[in-house]
Amino acid sequence: MENFIFHNPTKLIFGQGQIKHLAQEVSRYGKRVLLVYGGGSIKRNGLYDEVLSQLQEMDAYVAELGGVEPNPRLTTAYQGIDICKKEQIELVLAVGGGSVIDCAKLIAAGAKYEGDAWDFCNRKAVPQAALPLGTVLTIAATGSEMNGNSVITNWETNEKNGWGSPLVLPKFSILDPVYTMTLPKDQTVYGMIDMMAHVLEHYFHQEPNTPLQDGYCEALLRTVMETAPKLLEDLHSYEHRSTILYCGTMALNGTLNMGFSGDWASHGIEHAVSAVYDIPHGGGLAILFPNWMMHVLDGNEARFKKFAVNVFGIASDGRSDRDVAEDGIAALRSFWNSIGAPRCLADYGIDDTKLDVMAEKAVSFGPIGGFQKLDYEDVLSIYRASL
Ligand code: NZQ
Ligand code: ZN
Repeated sequence: MENFIFHNPTKLIFGQGQIKHLAQEVSRYGKRVLLVYGGGSIKRNGLYDEVLSQLQEMDAYVAELGGVEPNPRLTTAYQGIDICKKEQIELVLAVGGGSVIDCAKLIAAGAKYEGDAWDFCNRKAVPQAALPLGTVLTIAATGSEMNGNSVITNWETNEKNGWGSPLVLPKFSILDPVYTMTLPKDQTVYGMIDMMAHVLEHYFHQEPNTPLQDGYCEALLRTVMETAPKLLEDLHSYEHRSTILYCGTMALNGTLNMGFSGDWASHGIEHAVSAVYDIPHGGGLAILFPNWMMHVLDGNEARFKKFAVNVFGIASDGRSDRDVAEDGIAALRSFWNSIGAPRCLADYGIDDTKLDVMAEKAVSFGPIGGFQKLDYEDVLSIYRASL
């Protein structure tokens, strides 16, 4: 394995009723708060009232930015940055899903930057400072609650770019499974696909000697697959919501991939689709990831066989590595379909008219993929297989 430094300072506050710690955590950073949230789910499930009552009790000044979109938009982050600068905000508090948190990250860094915050997203500038960020998470999916990543869409240019900085790692994140119970079935499915995809992005790497890391990844994948059907039968199960919530955070907080970097091409390939068609991230991944697997299988059969055997329990005796590997990929596809994921781009009404545009976007910073490098033609062929 490669040398590494692991440092994740986010304080994770997990479990039923843990929102009671909010005021105490906020007060460590100041009394002037920008509350960032989405399209209204937190108003419907009572979380907004709970958060406001705690902030009022500590006599905080609260400015609000609601209406953050799924696939959050640059223009919304600009509004938040303006508020922070005008109102001398001391802490950005994101209450919602990955989109709200990602938007809040750009706000936190943009508030301390004189230039255009989009510079961070298109690699023209690196943040040198950020306001502190706290989160209250309402959906198990991205891991944004415990990582330094953010993904922002610029609708003027149809670009959806990921960026990251340790400066925007949340100072604290409160995760109460109860607040995820109102998440509808489709979003619950997308979230579980996303967290599995994060593990898969880690798992497919070329670094030798990562036995414990491989085992962690396989266990996380099996846990999500065992839990998913039970949760979908009972969306209000505290037990299953908490398992999935914990899985989502662990899938992308740096714990699984110490000593290697993983692939991440499938995420780039999906982001380019979302940038043009605004589809849910998890839905796009369910379509594209198995086709990426088939595309890179040649020469990598042993790794895919390990995945098939250890994650899906596929029998390998006397069969070629390729056969076993292909069974593993088919099993993944069929599991995702069994929980209601889309199967092909046509399920979102996407045809072949913009495949070239999306492929150009996916490789706009150069070839992608740490496990296997992909260029424009490779990406185009994955899109064609996904139609
Ligand atoms: O906007 P509201 O009304 O809150 O509704 C949201 C939204 O419509 C709803 N929702 C969230 N919690 C709910 C709820 N509805 C009822 N009850 C609740 N408890 O769910 C919808 C989707 O929310 P969103 O935040 O968009 O979902 P998610 O957490 O999956 O975030 C997706 C975004 O994160 C990016 C994706 O590309 C996408 O833009 N990603 C961020 C990553 C990161 N920062 O590390 C990594 C990921 O790979 C991903 O790319
Ligand atoms: Zn993802």
